[in-house]
Amino acid sequence: MSDLDLKNKRVLLREDLNVPVQDGVVTSDARIRAALPTVRSCMEAGAKVLILSHLGRPQEGVYDEKLSLAPVAVRLSELLGRAVPLRRDWLEGVDCAPGEAVLCENVRFNKGEKKDSEELARRMASLCDVFVMDAFATAHRAEASTHGVARFAPRACAGPLLVGELEALERALESPARPLVAIVGGSKVSTKLTVLEALLEKVDRLIVGGGIANTFLAATGVGVGRSLHEADMLDIARRLMTRARARGTEIPLPTDVVVAKELAATAHADIRSIHEVGGDEMILDIGPDSAEHFGASLDSAGTIIWNGPLGVFEYDQFGEGTRAIATAIARSKAFSLAGGGDTLAAIEKYGVEEGISYISTGGGAFLEFVEGKTLPAVAILESRAA
Ligand code: 3PG
Ligand code: MG
Repeated sequence: MSDLDLKNKRVLLREDLNVPVQDGVVTSDARIRAALPTVRSCMEAGAKVLILSHLGRPQEGVYDEKLSLAPVAVRLSELLGRAVPLRRDWLEGVDCAPGEAVLCENVRFNKGEKKDSEELARRMASLCDVFVMDAFATAHRAEASTHGVARFAPRACAGPLLVGELEALERALESPARPLVAIVGGSKVSTKLTVLEALLEKVDRLIVGGGIANTFLAATGVGVGRSLHEADMLDIARRLMTRARARGTEIPLPTDVVVAKELAATAHADIRSIHEVGGDEMILDIGPDSAEHFGASLDSAGTIIWNGPLGVFEYDQFGEGTRAIATAIARSKAFSLAGGGDTLAAIEKYGVEEGISYISTGGGAFLEFVEGKTLPAVAILESRAA
């Protein structure tokens, strides 16, 4: 985008403004703030800026007030210091003066969006002179507003947020300063298996947390009581550990944990050695010794990739492991890259934004890139540039 003269051009700008909304108010505006520099530079260049985004997963062809971008328009206007009107029937054509921006209502209200309909994509393309794809967090979706429109628009290019995200991921994964350490938390090995496999081939150390760590612990024969773990993934966890040993990659497991008999805000938390977890107990966080050990090992890292919390940090008594790791990442001099919805919530909760080198707006897109998958919305831009 930065190579083009956008003056008086009709720019169709795809952002990912899919943010959490409660009672008509945006509760986390991180993605809106991430899109601001691109919106501003289009406006300052004198473009007529039509902004596209989805919100949630509405039923296609039906307007649903609960998934209207109206709250996003409000927050975007506040942040820009300029009114950004919301247009509901934007496919019919939108009036927009040079230097102004208009927000088009949720792209997923349109029939054909999810299925990347050619007819819908052509209609979108006819609204613009330049299509700018900037929605990294939706780049793993081949939909009409992320993929199809890029085929038919007179010009199609990547926006600065998308470029910045890809550069950060490449820096962390393709030519990382070593040691490269990945921290993968979250509940299931099964949903993160390809991520774990892909990372194992690249990293020097793989720290696991959450239900994933429980499954690894169970695979080494440790009794995990009623902890969230996947009994049918034990062989796979063992295979990953064998592969790690063969490569010389460390997968350090927690040596102590925080347990409780119930998962609730009022639950009483106890610290245990991993060998003392009761049959009626659940592991809900890594323990203080493990947190300190993992944290200290981040001090010498050259690059850190973080996805997923280490415990149930929504409840403070199970959040200390995630807090310790978040703080250690922030303290480390490594190039650190974090992504994923829960990870972002943890970063916000513990106030460590400043210490993290790059915070990705992507959840699914971030993980698919780490897995080595092609992002269709990026591939189509590359094919048009070729
Ligand atoms: C996300 O939040 O992961 C992106 O906005 C993509 O949304 P989707 O998973 O509904 O396609
Ligand atoms: Mg998603």
